[in-house]
Amino acid sequence: MRIDVVTIFPDYLAPLELSLAGKARDKGLLDVRVHDLRQWATDRHHTVDDTPYGGGAGMVMKPEPWGAAFDELIPTGSTDEGTPPTVVVTTPSGVPFTQALARELAGRERLVFACGRYEGIDQRVLDDTRGRAEVLEVSIGDYVLNGGEVAALAITEAVVRLLPGFMGNPESLTEESHTLSDSGSSLLEYPVFTKPASWRGHDVPPVLLSGDHGAISAWRREQAVRRTAERRPDLVHPAVLLDDVEVRLVRPSDAGELFTLQRACWVQEQQDNPGVVIPALTESLGDVVAWAAQATVLVARSAGRLVGAVRASPRGDAWDIGRLMVAPDLQGRGLGRMLLERIEAAAPPEATSYELFTGAGSLRNQKMYKKAGYRLAGSPEPGVVRLTKARITG
Ligand SMILES: C[S@@+](CC[C@H](N)C(=O)[O-])C[C@H]1O[C@@H](n2cnc3c(N)ncnc32)[C@H](O)[C@@H]1O
Repeated sequence: MRIDVVTIFPDYLAPLELSLAGKARDKGLLDVRVHDLRQWATDRHHTVDDTPYGGGAGMVMKPEPWGAAFDELIPTGSTDEGTPPTVVVTTPSGVPFTQALARELAGRERLVFACGRYEGIDQRVLDDTRGRAEVLEVSIGDYVLNGGEVAALAITEAVVRLLPGFMGNPESLTEESHTLSDSGSSLLEYPVFTKPASWRGHDVPPVLLSGDHGAISAWRREQAVRRTAERRPDLVHPAVLLDDVEVRLVRPSDAGELFTLQRACWVQEQQDNPGVVIPALTESLGDVVAWAAQATVLVARSAGRLVGAVRASPRGDAWDIGRLMVAPDLQGRGLGRMLLERIEAAAPPEATSYELFTGAGSLRNQKMYKKAGYRLAGSPEPGVVRLTKARITG
C-alpha cells in the first residue's frame, strides 16, 4: 500500500517512521510519503489560507495549493490502469472512522491523506478531486482537533495493522474489540490477564486457569457482551441479547427494573385499550415487590439487563398467568413465547388449565396467545378478554 500525507506540518507525521508503520515499511508492505503543502503555494510567503467567503471567524485553506498538490500526486488519467486512489480528507464533519472502515481502507492500493488546518479546506478542492479519485471525508470522533495530522496518524495505524502479512499472528485480529460477529454485533473485547495468577491480592478469574476451552470461551463471550451492554449499548444487536438470555426465578434485587419494565410495557397497552383501567400502569414499586414475593415470577436477563418477565399463581384448578412483558425494543423475537412456555411448565401438578387476561384492543398479544394454543373464553369486564388453554399432561 502507498500512503501520501499532505500537511503544512510534515514534522507532525514523524511517528510514521516508528514502530508499526516502520515495521510495515521494512516488510515491504507500506510506502509512506509525507508532503509539505506549502511547496505547492506559489506566492512569496507560501500562503495556504485566506478569509472565508460569507464572513465569520478563522481562515480557510485556499484551493490552489491543494489543487496543485493533487494534480501532482494524482494526475488525471493515472488511475486508468488500476483502482483509483482514495483521498481521505480528515474533518470533524466526516463519516465516523470505524473498524469496518479501517478494514475497507486496508483493501485499497493507495491512500492520500489531506490534513486540514484552520476552518478546513475550500470545498471545491474535494469536488474537483472526485473526478479522479475516491474522496472520503472522515472524522475520528465527535470532538475538534486543531489539525488533521493526528487523525491521519490514527487512521493509518488502524489500517496498516490490518494489511495482509503485517500481523505475525493474524488470529490476534479476530477477537478484538469492534470485530463484527456473525450476529451483526461488534462486541468490545473481554478483560485480559497475564501472569502472575495472583497479584496484590487480585486473582485471575479461576475459569481462565481451568484449561477448559469451552468454559473459557463462554466466559469471555459473556464478559464481552456484559461490557458492551454497559459501556456501548449502541453496539449490541438485540439478537445477541437473545442468544444470551437467562430465565430464572425473580430475586428481590430485580424489583426496581421489573417495576420500570412493567411501566414501559403497559404504556403501549394503554394506547391500545383507551379508557381501560390498567393496574400495571399505576402500581408502586412496593406493589411490585409484594406480588413478586407471592406469585411464581420468572425474569429474563441478558447482558446485565432485565429484558422480560412473567408471573403466575394458582386460581382454583387453573394456572393464572399474567404480567407477561418483554422490553419494547426486543418484542417480536420469540422472547414472550419462550417466557409463556416456561411459566406454563412451572404450573403445579394439580392445575388442569392455563388462563390469562389481556385487553380487548391488544390484538398483537391475542394473536401470540392464540398461536400458543389459547382460545378466547369471554370477557370478565368491558375492555378485557379472558383466554384459556387446557393443560395436557403426561
Ligand atoms: C479546527 S479543525 C476545523 C473544524 C471545522 N471548522 C469544523 O467545525 O468542522 C481543523 C482541522 O482539524 C482536523 N480535525 C479536527 N477535528 C477532527 C476530527 N474529529 N476528525 C478528523 N479531523 C479533524 C480537520 O482536518 C480540520 O480541517
